[in-house]
Amino acid sequence: MATLRQHWIARGGSSGLIRLEKVTKTYHTIGHVRVPALCDIDLTIDRGEMVAVTGPSGSGTSTLINILGCLDVPSSGRYLLEGRDVVPLSKRQRAKVRASTIGFVFHRFDLLPDATVIRNVELPLVYAVRSRVRHEHALRALERVGLGGHDNDFPIELSPAQRRRAMIARALINDPKVLLQDDPTTELDVRSGQEIVQLYTELNDAGCTVIFSTHREDVAASARRIIRLSEGRIASDQRVIGRIHGPRVAARRRNLRSVRASVTNGSAGNNE
Ligand SMILES: Nc1ncnc2c1ncn2[C@@H]1O[C@H](COP(=O)(O)OP(=O)(O)O)[C@@H](O)[C@H]1O
Ligand SMILES: [Mg+2]
Repeated sequence: MATLRQHWIARGGSSGLIRLEKVTKTYHTIGHVRVPALCDIDLTIDRGEMVAVTGPSGSGTSTLINILGCLDVPSSGRYLLEGRDVVPLSKRQRAKVRASTIGFVFHRFDLLPDATVIRNVELPLVYAVRSRVRHEHALRALERVGLGGHDNDFPIELSPAQRRRAMIARALINDPKVLLQDDPTTELDVRSGQEIVQLYTELNDAGCTVIFSTHREDVAASARRIIRLSEGRIASDQRVIGRIHGPRVAARRRNLRSVRASVTNGSAGNNE
């Protein structure tokens, strides 16, 4: 059976998923004050990358993620998504592109408390896909985020990190080409935040392109490429050397974790 990573690559080759050319974003406040949020951003992101966009508060990280997620448009410049400039598209056309290509994790849109986890995850497909197919997609998405077996739980029965996982499953249901999130660890305690970052690493190991913003250094450090913004400009773009990825690395990491667990339990060597 083809691995997930092979599946992703088969869906579109290995490069050039996202390209920004001279992208600028200026907000206009009610008092007609111009607020420059992004200036002259040139950026290419390939399939299979795991990218953290970081910088101090106000540096433009959310603005960049919103533009990449087709939730907002640049004031000038081009945004090529799979080679197609999405800037001239209407809001409705952009929504279509988003639905077919992007998995945007909206943590502000919480899970519906009265619906089971699987119903929540199915939501994006409610009007688009027959219920049996929808159900299968949702079960697969839940497996991918490590929530297999929790389909009939209600959100209140899950931990904060599990609820966040369910939101990620909701974004994965369409099998998107890129997973995007603004500040994935916000409002989470340190441990839950680490759990979410670890999940993103595992999804990326399985071939998923992941892009998120963060103001936290430790969270940014978990990515394989770190783009630092300063006052709306790219101050640095660093690929983390040695952070190769792929299913074999995921397996090695799992082995390492089980060795670490046995060291903690005082049975080191049994796994060697
Ligand atoms: N809707 C908006 N209207 C006016 N100014 C905005 C708006 N959103 C963001 N900004 C401004 O744009 C700049 C970048 O904001 P943002 O992208 O939210 O930064 P970050 O997420 O890195 O904190 C900041 O100066 C912020 O105040
Ligand atoms: Mg922000």
